[in-house]
Parts: sequence; structure tokens; C-alpha cells
Amino acid sequence: MAVELKLPVAAVTIATAALALLTGTSALPGAPAGQTEQFDYQTRYFQQKVDHFGFAEVATFNQRYLIADRYWNHNGGPILFYTGNEGDITWFCNNTGFMWDVSKELEAMLVFAEHRYYGESMPFGEKSFGNLTNLNYFTSEQAMADFAVLIRSLKQTIPGAKTSPVIAIGGSYGGMLAAWFRMKYPNIVVGALAASAPIWLFENLTACGDFYAVVTNDFLKSGQGCADSIRNSWDAINNLSSTAEGLTFLSHAFHLCSPLQASDVASFKSWLSDTWVNLAMVDYPYEADFLQPLPAWPIKAVCTFLKDPSLPAESLLKNIFQAVNVYFNYTGNAECLNISQTATSNLDDQGWYYQTCTEMVMPTCSDGVKDMFEPVPWDFQLFSDNCKKEWGIRPRPDWITTVYGGKNINSHSNIIFSNGGLDPWASGGVTKSISDTLIAIIIPEGAHHLDLRSRNDKDPISVQKARALEVEYIKKWIQEAKNEPMPF
Ligand SMILES: *[C@@H]1O[C@H](CO)[C@@H](O)[C@H](O)[C@H]1NC(C)=O
Ligand SMILES: *[C@@H]1O[C@H](CO)[C@@H](O)[C@H](O)[C@H]1NC(C)=O
Ligand SMILES: *[C@@H]1O[C@H](CO)[C@@H](O)[C@H](O)[C@H]1NC(C)=O
Ligand SMILES: *[C@@H]1O[C@H](CO)[C@@H](O)[C@H](O)[C@H]1NC(C)=O
Ligand SMILES: *[C@@H]1O[C@H](CO)[C@@H](O)[C@H](O)[C@H]1NC(C)=O
Ligand SMILES: *[C@@H]1O[C@H](CO)[C@@H](O)[C@H](O)[C@H]1NC(C)=O
Repeated sequence: MAVELKLPVAAVTIATAALALLTGTSALPGAPAGQTEQFDYQTRYFQQKVDHFGFAEVATFNQRYLIADRYWNHNGGPILFYTGNEGDITWFCNNTGFMWDVSKELEAMLVFAEHRYYGESMPFGEKSFGNLTNLNYFTSEQAMADFAVLIRSLKQTIPGAKTSPVIAIGGSYGGMLAAWFRMKYPNIVVGALAASAPIWLFENLTACGDFYAVVTNDFLKSGQGCADSIRNSWDAINNLSSTAEGLTFLSHAFHLCSPLQASDVASFKSWLSDTWVNLAMVDYPYEADFLQPLPAWPIKAVCTFLKDPSLPAESLLKNIFQAVNVYFNYTGNAECLNISQTATSNLDDQGWYYQTCTEMVMPTCSDGVKDMFEPVPWDFQLFSDNCKKEWGIRPRPDWITTVYGGKNINSHSNIIFSNGGLDPWASGGVTKSISDTLIAIIIPEGAHHLDLRSRNDKDPISVQKARALEVEYIKKWIQEAKNEPMPF
């Protein structure tokens, strides 16, 4: 979950990272040949009500969804339903190789539903973001109501689907939606796989410093001196940026596209923080291109440049540049580094920014001790003031915990929460099983929803095991549903 809010640095980072919260990568360099042809789907549109929860607004819009039924058993075979998150649904579709990989074995139909206000699914067309009235239907509740209405319609209209058990699957914010969807609509889906879903990163359910502590731990483990070099870099930047010569040095040392001004220093530091966070999210065991093209285990590659934290400011920062260049210039095509850009992706910052300023408030903070970042306390008032300035609205930080149960979710069932040990979002995930049917899975070598990505020869055993367990539970839910059919 990553969006570029101008919040306290920590919040900015999260926001940005939040955008990125999303999915796994797609066809990578080195992916098996024919992988793209595997993503063979049809694009369809479904007419949705703009407002599911009131009767005054009668407008409708077309929701995009993708469907693939190559391996589907036309006699009630299961439907794996991706609960779309903050971006273009084709990108999530192409990046959720797990669903494609298991579709044959499960004889499953795949459906990927776009989240309203993203991609092509705009309730008011180009005017969807035009004013607060048009934005008013942009909530997770409305998005899940879209999913429920769509699924009922698919089951009623596709021959052979009437008794098909439906499994919700999603990663990141999409994983939160998958879990909440099973909680709110147990009549529609028989179970959910919620991958890297930080459903407990709200209100005070998780200590605000945990997120950055996980990021830091990834760097601590990836090379001696690495996390300390980053911790020391903030001071070095603060020292250097206090003079004109220092600013010129930083502009040159970091190959910046435009000269750094004193007024940009805060943005420069959040750009660096965001980069470290993004690296933690995509610390995958093989070459991949989720947010950026990157080598295998990119943090290890970064840490080869950060062995000596005790260097004087200028030498230290030259090394920091080499390190971030692994992230921004792995292809060798970057002409300069732009501190307004942290990822090349199909995620929609604007939409996610709005969501963080309404429902999706995830407090984070750093202290420079348990983590390698500059100390930034969580400041809800400042966060809220920025939302007011940017959107004209203020967030409701306690709504998500009210509507989706916070920690009191043990009356629900059939949800797998999978978490990556390297993934900062795991800090707000469900990491211990709650009951026999609310299952937590930890993938120690996994970054952000590694399990949802396509199979890869370099997959650690832990993710192979996690996927096998996930398939086992999904089969169990399907079997139980077959024993007790639920046509609508
Ligand atoms: C997803 O894959 C399809 C075909 O495999 C391609 O046409 C489409 O552009 C891809 N979308 C994204 C966002 O990568
Ligand atoms: C919002 O924009 C729509 C046009 O898309 C317009 O009809 C409506 O009056 C506007 N509402 C407000 C409160 O400005
Ligand atoms: C969250 O705040 C509530 C109310 O102030 C308090 O009762 C609860 O113990 C807090 N939870 C955590 C995990 O700090
Ligand atoms: C920054 O400046 C302070 C005070 O001049 C000094 O103590 C500190 O060592 C400097 N830090 C770095 C990393 O150069
Ligand atoms: C990116 O790498 C290429 C090839 O090593 C190099 O020529 C170029 O200067 C680098 N770009 C930046 C911004 O450092
Ligand atoms: C830097 O990125 C921003 C945002 O994408 C863009 O508007 C700007 O033109 C870029 N600057 C340069 C010099 O490339």
C-alpha cells in the first residue's frame, strides 16, 4: 500500500509503500517461455449500481472483470475470484500466477474483478474524481458489494456455474478485501486466501513502529553494516543539506534529474525511505519486475555497497547512491534519478491516497532505534490536516475496525492469512492461527505475497509448502461446499 501523501515522513512512506502494497510481479526476465500466453483471459463488463446502500442515487456504471475458463469443469467446477485492489485489474491478473498455476488442478474458472474507481471501472467516468459527491461511493464496502452482486450474476447466467463454490483470493489491500469479503458474505464465497493482508494495521491494533522495524531487520540480515549505514545517512544528509555546497554535492552524487533545493530535502529523504521500504516488499529470491526491474535478493545487492557505516558524510552518501541505484538503475537505462518517482507500476496513487484519507488509515512511526529511519512519531492530526487540504475531507481512523471486527474475528471461518517474514506489511497481518478454520501461514523467506506469484525454480521450500497448504485448504472448502451446496 503505497501512496505519495504529503504527510509526516513515515506516513508518506507508508502511503507510498501502500500503493505498492499490492501484488506480485509478472512475467520476469527469465520467466518460463509461454508464460504470457498462459494469461489468456476475456475482458467483460458488468453493469453495477453506483450505490448499493441507498435508494436515491440510481446511476449505474460498467465494472470491468476478466474471466478465464480454459480448465474449468463446466459442471459446477469452482470459481477462484480475485478481489481487485488499487489498480488496473489486468496488471493484478498478470501478476497473480498462483491462480493460473492451480487452475488446472482445481478445474477452476478464474475471475478477476476490478475495484471501482480504478482502471476502467469508473462510476462517473472521467468525472469520478471531479468532486466529493462523485467520490462518495469510493469505499471498500461498495467495492465488496460489487463483487457479491457480480458473483451472484455469474452463477445465475453461466451455464454450469449455479452450484460452483467460489473462493476469494487477493494480495495486499486485495488480500484484506478477500478476508473481509468472506467475513461479510459467507453466503457468496466458501473461503478466502488473504495474502499479505495487513488487516490489523489499523487504529492501535499493531504498534506503529513495527512496520519500519521489519524493513530494518531485512537490511540487518542482508549484510554487515548495512542498516547502520542507512541509519547514519540521515544525519549526513541533514549536515550536508544545510549549505549550498552540500546541496550541490548531493545533486551530483545522486545523479538527480534536477538540482536539490533546501525545500526539497524532506522529499529527498522520504524518497530514500520509500526506496528502502519498497526494497523490503520486493526482496524476492529471483530476478523480478514488480515495482522496478531488480536482481535476485535485491537487498543483498544493495548491502554490498553499505559495509562501512563509519565513513565521513560524503563517502557514506556516495555509497548510499550506489545502493539506491540498484533499485532505480538495474537495467542501466536510468539517465538520472527523479525524487518524485519511486516505482514504475500500474498502481493508482491518487485512488489509494483518497482511500487512506477516508477509511484506510494505517498508523506508522519510526524512532531511529528499533529501526534505521529518522524518528517520526505518528501524528494523526497532521495526517488528517493533510487530507483536509488535499481532498477536503478528514479520515475516520476507527471505522475499519468497527465494520470489520478488529481483533474480534474468531466467529468467522475459512480464511487463510499468508504472511512473508520479510514483508513489512506482515507487521499488521494475522500471523497466528485463530481457530481451525482461520489459518495463519508464515513464509519466512517471503516478501510481499510471494505465494501469489507464479511458480519459479528459485522458490524457497517455505513458499512451495505454503502454496501446497493453501491448495489443500481450498480443496477442503470446495469439497465441503459440494457436500452442502449453496446455489446463491
Ligand atoms: C496483461 O497480459 C495481457 C496479455 O497476456 C496483456 O495484453 C496486457 O497488456 C497485460 N497487462 C498489464 C498491465 O501488464
Ligand atoms: C459534482 O460533479 C457532477 C458532475 O459530474 C455534478 O453534476 C454535481 O453537481 C457536482 N456536485 C457538486 C456538489 O459540486
Ligand atoms: C488500543 O486502545 C484501546 C482504547 O484506548 C485500549 O483499550 C487497547 O488496549 C489498545 N490496544 C493496544 C494493542 O494498544
Ligand atoms: C553531522 O554534524 C554533527 C555536528 O557537526 C557531527 O557531530 C556529526 O558527526 C555529523 N554527522 C555526519 C554523519 O557527518
Ligand atoms: C545507469 O547505469 C548506466 C550503465 O551503467 C550508466 O551509464 C548510467 O549513468 C546510470 N544512471 C544513473 C542515473 O546513474
Ligand atoms: C520527475 O517525475 C515527475 C513525476 O512523475 C515528473 O512530473 C517530472 O517531469 C520528472 N522530472 C524529470 C526531470 O524527469
